[in-house]
Amino acid sequence: MRVYQVEGAFGLENLKLAKRDMPEPGPGQVVVKMGAASLNFRDLMMVKGLYNPRQPLPLVPLSDGAGEIVAAGAGVTRVAVGDRVMGLFVQRWLDGPFSPEGRASTLGGPLDGMLAEYQVLEADGVVKTPAHLSDAEAACLPCAPLTAWNALFAQGNLQPGQRVLLQGTGGVSISALQLAKAAGAHVIITSSSDEKLERARRMGADQTLNYKETPDWGKAVLKMTGGFGVDHVVEVGGAETLGHSMTAARFGGSVHMIGVLAGVMTKLPVTSILMKHLRIQGIFVGSRAMFEAMNRALTVHNIHPVVDQQVPFEEAPEAFHLLARGGHFGKVVVSF
Ligand SMILES: NC(=O)c1ccc[n+]([C@@H]2O[C@H](COP(=O)([O-])OP(=O)(O)OC[C@H]3O[C@@H](n4cnc5c(N)ncnc54)[C@H](OP(=O)(O)O)[C@@H]3O)[C@@H](O)[C@H]2O)c1
Repeated sequence: MRVYQVEGAFGLENLKLAKRDMPEPGPGQVVVKMGAASLNFRDLMMVKGLYNPRQPLPLVPLSDGAGEIVAAGAGVTRVAVGDRVMGLFVQRWLDGPFSPEGRASTLGGPLDGMLAEYQVLEADGVVKTPAHLSDAEAACLPCAPLTAWNALFAQGNLQPGQRVLLQGTGGVSISALQLAKAAGAHVIITSSSDEKLERARRMGADQTLNYKETPDWGKAVLKMTGGFGVDHVVEVGGAETLGHSMTAARFGGSVHMIGVLAGVMTKLPVTSILMKHLRIQGIFVGSRAMFEAMNRALTVHNIHPVVDQQVPFEEAPEAFHLLARGGHFGKVVVSF
């Protein structure tokens, strides 16, 4: 079978097509014939060696994928051959709190990921695909939407009528837009592109803001909410955006720390956190129980992830370049 793997050294130029033996399922395992895989910003960092420079190579990248079970090992009862499934990003986080064991079990680094024609996984590490979704759509779910779900619902307890601030129009933010609107929230979204903001409005965003034209967007959001602030910030920027997010949040509001699109290290006055009673919550994707809860909501609301661009398996490296250029709105998918 064919896989793409990062060979020899990190870098997009070292992402090479290779042949590996067909995987056989051991006891408790299944083999999934991949239908589609999707890219996250993390995958780009992983291939470039910026996520974990100590990651052993070769590595098959991509945490997210969906397909069909074609073989099952002894003792597998949760799922069966013929089931359509998606991989669980954190293979060993089934329920309860996050743990160091969970953190060491993520697909697309340190474990081999989904950019392979077949993938062997623990039967516990797959989740059934909602019937209304194609493989391309399902391949988007394991990371970005689950992260948004964890932030807004598992940790955030989002209520109808609350205000949610989203940064940019990448995978996490666009799924957060869909989920927050389905829950009856008021959504404010930022982007560097007016065209993308128009598209977000067509998807239900209530207020929009161009963060390039308004560099002091935290204060602008505060003004847009009549000085009250937002209940939740889905914080995907990191170092350069956190201060603005803290300004935009209401007293007692939550800032869900998710991403590092705008850097990792920053200096901020901690007094703003305590004076405003802010809740700064770290989020790392989500558990299988959260994934299954999200899938029920996606089914009830007939939500389809936004697949912006699809690239055939044979041209998979181009998908990484597309993501790096940042022109996408929602998700970039590789179809097998
Ligand atoms: N903690 C977790 O479990 C978890 C899970 C998923 C993702 N993440 C992290 O979350 C971040 C987003 O991931 P993603 O997959 O959604 O990325 P993505 O799809 O690549 O999103 C890129 C988009 O983010 C926007 N953006 C870039 N820089 C920005 C800035 N300074 N301020 C506001 N928006 C900015 C841009 O939107 P416009 O073009 O509209 O400006 C850009 O197109 C990444 O850092 C990723 O590693 C973390």
